[in-house]
Amino acid sequence: MPKLVVVYLSTSGNTKAMADAIVEGAQSRNIEAKAMNFNEARIEELKYADAIAIGSSTFYYKMLPPMEKFIESLEKAKIKAKFGAAFGSYGWSGEAPVMIAEKMRKLGIEVIDPVLRIQYQPVEKDLDECKRLGKDIAVKLKKKDTSPGSEPKRKAAAVSVQEVRMGEGGH
Ligand SMILES: Cc1cc2nc3c(=O)[nH]c(=O)nc-3n(C[C@H](O)[C@H](O)[C@H](O)COP(=O)(O)O)c2cc1C
Repeated sequence: MPKLVVVYLSTSGNTKAMADAIVEGAQSRNIEAKAMNFNEARIEELKYADAIAIGSSTFYYKMLPPMEKFIESLEKAKIKAKFGAAFGSYGWSGEAPVMIAEKMRKLGIEVIDPVLRIQYQPVEKDLDECKRLGKDIAVKLKKKDTSPGSEPKRKAAAVSVQEVRMGEGGH
């Protein structure tokens, strides 16, 4: 079964709610999917994901430095995922998901365009949009999985979900 790993940075739970909804959407299409805080994410596990979605809220017109560092660490790990998505909650400018997508593309990952941004706390219709993104990723992954010459199935990763507390910048 193809696997989607969703990694997020969320100071007050808004982006985490998006991540969980993306996972729910993918799982509803029979894709193995897990959400994890970037602090919990182990590179060895991410290496075997078939798709990666990365989310962060925006702070001071960009993503917070720990998330930037995390994405840079993926470069060194030579991850196999060739497909993914970027997302995040924001207040007024919402640069972080766009910056994440740029960085992912530099790693050779095809990123769904446009990125998914939700203002502040996602309401039901926003979460439906996140679920839709999860479903879209699943459809794309399944196509790849059944296409001739597709790569062998990869090892599943056991991961846990935990909300990040940044200690500052939240509200
Ligand atoms: C100190 C601070 C700085 C912020 N800077 C920005 C910003 O530059 N642009 C923006 O769109 N939102 C900004 N926000 C709003 C957050 O991105 C927004 O509250 C978001 O929903 C937080 O999501 P999270 O709970 O996933 O971290 C800022 C919020 C705080 C508290």
